[in-house]
Amino acid sequence: MGNKLKVSTNLSCDVLVIGAGGAGLRCAAEILEKKPGASVLAVTKVAHPQKSHTAAAQGGVCAVDPSDLHDKPIYHMFDTWKGSDCSADQNVVKKIVETGWDQLMWLENRGMHFTRLQGGALGKRTFGGHTSGFGSVSSFRAVFDADRTGKSMMDTCWQEAVKGGVSFVPQSVVTELLFKEGRCIGAILFKEKDGEFVSVLAKATVLATGGCGQVFRITTNCRDNTGDALAVILRAGFPVMDPEAVQFHPTGIVGPGILASEALRSEGGILRNKDLEPFMEKYAPKMKELAPRDIVSRAMESEIRSGNGVLNPDHNIEHVWIDLRELPDYVHDVKLKEISGFFKTFVNIDPKKELCPVRSSNHYHMGGIPTTEFGEVQKTSDEIIPGLFAVGECASASFHGFNRLGTNSLLELFTMGKFVGERVVDYIKDGSLTELPKEAGEVTFSQFSKYLEASGKGNIGVIREEMRNLMTAKVGIFRKGNEMAEAMESLNELRKRAEVVALASKTTKMNQDLHQRWELDNLLDIAMITTKGAYERKESRGGHYRDDYTERSEEFDYHTLAYMTEYGKVDLGKRPIDMSIFEAGGEHCEHFKMIPRKY
Ligand code: FUM
Repeated sequence: MGNKLKVSTNLSCDVLVIGAGGAGLRCAAEILEKKPGASVLAVTKVAHPQKSHTAAAQGGVCAVDPSDLHDKPIYHMFDTWKGSDCSADQNVVKKIVETGWDQLMWLENRGMHFTRLQGGALGKRTFGGHTSGFGSVSSFRAVFDADRTGKSMMDTCWQEAVKGGVSFVPQSVVTELLFKEGRCIGAILFKEKDGEFVSVLAKATVLATGGCGQVFRITTNCRDNTGDALAVILRAGFPVMDPEAVQFHPTGIVGPGILASEALRSEGGILRNKDLEPFMEKYAPKMKELAPRDIVSRAMESEIRSGNGVLNPDHNIEHVWIDLRELPDYVHDVKLKEISGFFKTFVNIDPKKELCPVRSSNHYHMGGIPTTEFGEVQKTSDEIIPGLFAVGECASASFHGFNRLGTNSLLELFTMGKFVGERVVDYIKDGSLTELPKEAGEVTFSQFSKYLEASGKGNIGVIREEMRNLMTAKVGIFRKGNEMAEAMESLNELRKRAEVVALASKTTKMNQDLHQRWELDNLLDIAMITTKGAYERKESRGGHYRDDYTERSEEFDYHTLAYMTEYGKVDLGKRPIDMSIFEAGGEHCEHFKMIPRKY
């Protein structure tokens, strides 16, 4: 079987962008603005780039408006640093925050729609952990397009990429990166519809495949978010940073976990327990519902754990309520129309009249492929891989540390998209294409041959569900050492079971079983490094909370680098947290040391 698989098409381009969501296409657009005529190939797993998960972002995108007399970039930097539980890289925080507004205007000038007030001023919302005056009062720095901000941003980035001349490769995934003398020279793609393997030689390769939320049972992430680039990076012998830094969004709609935006709480929604008591004051006396997400999610779970949850009989899931009944009709009907509709569609509830059931849902991965502030992929804490870049949720320059503030992800996506695009243009200036290495495709063919040749019993879908249930139960919002040790054993078992499963169909063309088999390996890889990273981090920090080590500890003031070339054998390294704002001294530097985290 092995020698039947082969590369059937050879392509080449200046820049290969793998993942055509907001980050990948913002990067592609920058490359083409700076270097018109460059050949840029953008690969998307979905049928059309606009179906990318960026389009699901709802509530807003933040940046400090220079005309706002109450807000300053230094406040936003502080909020991001404190929100990250003192784990973000301060050079990255400064760079992104200081460029935010200009880059928002880049989008608006290219047609992105933002909701405006009657007089014409931009509408603004506050989100959890966003303050003015170093925590004094809530800051309204998130602009939005009703509750479809991601869709508007996606449309704009897509239009700019098309305008610049990007060529798209749809329904395709990256299975292997190609290297020559330590430099990345392209990748092998699998075109799922045609069942073909394609080699692409590129002067620069950008990974932008998005998140990995499908590792968890309940998630706001779309079905395709299986962390593909992270798995490919691990197989190439390179690290993933802070895999244990996982975010759970407080308000997933009970059952499927579909996102019900934080904007609901920004507009006045109140969380209530089974006795209809508002409980957030107990956990975040000052900011209550508008504390950062890790704190609100833990508060909700604590209510449920102490018997104050409500059992939903349809899904057999306990939950709390979000009370939206006091919100004006205009908010329900115009500003948050889509989300109101979700409650009607998915749980048959009218949020104007009834309480809505919500439970935390996996939402975002703060960890990812480690990069510099320019998106250059790192193989160790101080060595980059020339020719290889990463951007968006699959990457981590560490703007978010161990907890991301709401609306900071869209901000990161388009600012880093620009920075990475600029660096790529600089990198390809003197670059040339190389020959396709003889061994190109070997990793892929050995992997896919095993999938196609397996002849044992089992079901990929069942294994995937078991893994997702396991991760939600044992590596979720509250973690314990003994449970994570059990989880790693179970993952090893699941992986062994996956290895033998005979696929229902042996074709490579349009074979959902084959596609899901490959995704399962990616998910199992990420589940393992997440669990190992969380197991070894014997402290609590941001979204990583340990029942057996409840405090942040200075012993762990670093980023985890997780390597795994053999399943289950995870080697851990470290990358220091950049403290450059603190180290530079100056007027506000005391806010940027390892500060306590109260809201
Ligand atoms: O709650 C939301 O609207 C999500 C925003 C975000 O994840 O940044």
